[in-house]
Amino acid sequence: MLLWQKMMIGLARSESVTRRMQNSRYMARFARRFVGGRDGAEGLERAKTLREQNLSASLFYLGEYVADPQEIATTRRALSDAAKGLGASGLDVHLSVDPTQLGAMLSWETCRENVTALAREVADHAGNGRDVLMLDMEDSSVTEPTLDLYHFLRNEGLPAAVTVQAYLHRTPGDLARLVADGAMVRLVKGAFAESGKVAVTGRHDRDEAYRKAVVTLLSPKARERGVYPVFGTHDHRMVAFAEHVAATNGWRRDQWEVEMLLGVRSAYQRELAARGVAVRLYLPFGRDWWPYSIRRVGENPKNLGFVFRSMAGG
Ligand code: FDA
Repeated sequence: MLLWQKMMIGLARSESVTRRMQNSRYMARFARRFVGGRDGAEGLERAKTLREQNLSASLFYLGEYVADPQEIATTRRALSDAAKGLGASGLDVHLSVDPTQLGAMLSWETCRENVTALAREVADHAGNGRDVLMLDMEDSSVTEPTLDLYHFLRNEGLPAAVTVQAYLHRTPGDLARLVADGAMVRLVKGAFAESGKVAVTGRHDRDEAYRKAVVTLLSPKARERGVYPVFGTHDHRMVAFAEHVAATNGWRRDQWEVEMLLGVRSAYQRELAARGVAVRLYLPFGRDWWPYSIRRVGENPKNLGFVFRSMAGG
């Protein structure tokens, strides 16, 4: 599996493969499985079709760890266009952003200006008042400034939420502050190769850390404070655990949700939504779709079938 994943990451990083794939009419069909569209307007259109299936969306502009000012400006414009479309869409949409897409590689000051302006646009255009700017959480070198950025936005009265990684040793302390703040928190296991100094490393310990964080986010105190937990996981054991804790502690179905990636465990997503669990899909958009999509194949070789079917025009 590791070799397979490495091969797919190699394909994701190859510029010539990326160019060829992104120009291929057939491969665009494959991208549709994992990617919402080429721009914010297409992403919002896709969000509308998901809404018909009782699924909400979290739009994400493809790209991360960007140091080129021009590219940062392009990202900013794309996200801004998406934010401006929120009100007209009448949907409940989150706008997900990585701080390193919006200037953190240059300076946190630049990042803060970009993210604050974007959060203001979300606030100005939010149709039903439920749209928020969700900060993704990247590697542990940026955990502290990302949390600071979240608290800054909240102090400004802006509609912001933040992702927290269960695997980090520091997370129980961060969650205590976020619970006191009545925050919207997206809980994920954590996706970066961190050392044992900053994070638990084994699968079992990672799952245990996730369960502990679920208990914190779904505690009676968190409910009183108005916390809104978003469980970002495809792991049915974690979702079942959250459902159990939520029911035990008297959380209503509209007070928390589960978020998964578009195209990953789609049948399970529909099954959850059908039995009343609020489900949101992470909906990436943008022209740079190949590296993101082929990484999803790396995570699950079954997805290779979609590549072949797309090439065959099926
Ligand atoms: P994991 O991959 O640990 O799988 C556990 C079990 O779930 C599997 O053994 C299997 O039983 C089942 N399962 C999972 N996928 C399956 C599949 N495709 N088919 C069948 N069964 C499957 N990370 C980060 O560091 N910062 C971030 O900001 C984010 N943001 C984010 C947003 C959203 C919406 C999601 C879903 C995830 C993230 N992540 C993230 C990634 C996250 O940290 C984590 O790496 C991945 O979600 C993988 O962990 P899971 O909890 O999904 O299950």
